[in-house]
Amino acid sequence: MKVDGTPYRTIWLADDHRTVQVIDQTRLPHVFEIKSLTSLNDATVAIRDMLVRGAPLIGATGAYGMALAMTEGSSDSCVAIAYDALFETRPTASNLGWALNDLRKLLLGLAPGDRLCAAYARAAEICEDDVSTCHSIGQHGADLIGALWEQKGKPDQLNILTHCNAGWLAAVDWGTALSAIYVAVERGIPIHVWADETRPRNQGSSLTAWELGKQGVQHTVITDNAGGHLMQHGLVDMCIVGTDRTTASGDVCNKVGTYLKALAAHDNNVPFYVALPHSTIDWEAQDGLRDIPIETRSCEEVTHISGKVREGETVSVQLTPDGTEALNIAFDITPACYVTGFITERGVCDASADGLLDLYPERAL
Ligand code: MRU
Repeated sequence: MKVDGTPYRTIWLADDHRTVQVIDQTRLPHVFEIKSLTSLNDATVAIRDMLVRGAPLIGATGAYGMALAMTEGSSDSCVAIAYDALFETRPTASNLGWALNDLRKLLLGLAPGDRLCAAYARAAEICEDDVSTCHSIGQHGADLIGALWEQKGKPDQLNILTHCNAGWLAAVDWGTALSAIYVAVERGIPIHVWADETRPRNQGSSLTAWELGKQGVQHTVITDNAGGHLMQHGLVDMCIVGTDRTTASGDVCNKVGTYLKALAAHDNNVPFYVALPHSTIDWEAQDGLRDIPIETRSCEEVTHISGKVREGETVSVQLTPDGTEALNIAFDITPACYVTGFITERGVCDASADGLLDLYPERAL
């Protein structure tokens, strides 16, 4: 995607072919800053402190983290230490474990002297695969959006609600939920996006609004609690969100607040779609409430908020009274019964075990 005319991805290699570069998402929307990652520690900090975030991008950064670790040592124990350090950064997104397992299996099958180059090559492949996967999700999602637009008589504006940020900033490029919107807009469908602000870290008001603005997509930021009201008044035609981990039975784990949007959509007959790549499906997990680890983060993300002051500087301010307790649950589970369908790189399916197996029959074996 382009930022002020220049094409960017969220993660790439510098000219030395070793340094990993990322957009520091903690500085957006007010400052566009590129950070260099040169060690395993840099990669773990980037994921844990959310310089990079979003399930597919966490996976891609994990893969490059393994490659960076190989610059520091390539013995079996170096592979194990890197795996453990990266794995524990963020527990919920399936893509991280998926990428780390892939790298570990590859590296342990090679002689230590061959591991460095192989790790960089595989991390690059994972990134390329993510770009084409997300673009395919966009095409299938845009087909769905186009069909809904026609079914509604081609209104001047089709209103789509999304939660958190499932755009190109959450992946290597394109994104998942927003990829469908980007492709649909390219096809001439007049979309307006309702972007949930997504407290406490405000990925909607800071990241989704920033990237939609840069791509020229019409949008309005709303408070997290406004979606139900808009749906009751016929102002939402469709919801599309991303996911961090989806079970083999179709339960969806995504940014906290997604579940309440799905309930409101169900009550108001608004189609509720989840866009996801294959790497987000946890084929071992069956019951979302039982089998998915839910990340809890620092309570300071709830008690404080950061933003730009008049002088242009970004500052953090305290919202709550001194000493107030806060709980910061980062994700929730939307049971499959509230999901209209999945938009994947292989097409659209029911949110059910059968739906997923129709698209991924190799998993039935
Ligand atoms: O905590 P974050 O910002 O990493 O959470 C991101 C989300 O919840 C996204 O919706 C999800 O990763 C899907 S991204 C394509």
